[in-house]
Amino acid sequence: MATFEYQNIFGQVKLGYVIAESQKFDEWISFMQKCLGLHLAEHTEQQLSFRIDDYEKRFIVQRGDAEDVTHIGFQVENKLVLEQIIGRFDQREIQYAIGETTDAQARGVQAFWYVQGPKGIQLELFIDEVRTDQPLTMQSSGFYTADSGMGHVAITSQKPEKMIRFWQEFFDARLTDTVEQKINGVTLDVTFLRLNERHHSIAVAETRGVHLDPIRTSIQHMNLQVLDLEDVTMAYQRCKDNGFAVAWEVGQHTNDREVSFYVASPSGFEVELGWAPIKIDEATWQPIKHTSISVWGHQPKPPSKVHKLMHEFGQISESLKKLRRDEYSPID
Ligand SMILES: [Fe+2]
Repeated sequence: MATFEYQNIFGQVKLGYVIAESQKFDEWISFMQKCLGLHLAEHTEQQLSFRIDDYEKRFIVQRGDAEDVTHIGFQVENKLVLEQIIGRFDQREIQYAIGETTDAQARGVQAFWYVQGPKGIQLELFIDEVRTDQPLTMQSSGFYTADSGMGHVAITSQKPEKMIRFWQEFFDARLTDTVEQKINGVTLDVTFLRLNERHHSIAVAETRGVHLDPIRTSIQHMNLQVLDLEDVTMAYQRCKDNGFAVAWEVGQHTNDREVSFYVASPSGFEVELGWAPIKIDEATWQPIKHTSISVWGHQPKPPSKVHKLMHEFGQISESLKKLRRDEYSPID
């Protein structure tokens, strides 16, 4: 093996696509196309795919029983960045493989490499996407991707130190800020990590002290960024009109200043639709700790599972330890 030379790849990785496995295709179409306003690009017996820009596919639903996000695709700038990440996997003896051509086509990419990532989510790396010049037909005025990539994912973890270290060691993630929110004497810590100009591509949430994971799904939520405030408010109304459970009402986050709401997807994890998060200026940014997650709004209604759990935390104690499930980590 050639000598491996470490090179920092910060700013050269961005969220590219997300794959969920579900049997609820009709609900997913209604949720993504009719309510959140994405473009439905593909509908077969085995797969749905949705567009938000000129990439052929951004959010994919594959037929299966998981009712969960199963794969997350990250786009890397070029072959050097890919080799850098793969070289780090080699060094740490983390197994990776190259995807089949048919699977690359299913993802709308030319080729991809994959590993089993934190929490067992399959992490995939690709360089070149497949684009389409077909016009977008969607309820939303548009979604922001560009150099920021496709929104972000938030993951609850029982092994937050390992999970944070994973993103730092393999993707050169930088700490943007943290939020410490006390609810009924229990502290929820959220660490926001950036891979590029986007305030965060990954958020890692943990309960301080006893590390629990009350979330069934591998991610707590996935965020998509729309171009206009009205895209948020109209989607919010469409979700309510169509019976999807808004988990957190419209509000504004303290740290990234994004105006957003959260709604439960057909598979259970939430989708946050947001507008106007700040971008990070690397020259001046200093990570700080916030003591609340929102400036205004974001009221749980009806109480989301996490929020309900957090509120009831004071009354429950030992029994919650059963929520300690073994969480896969690629690193020790
Ligand atoms: Fe978020």
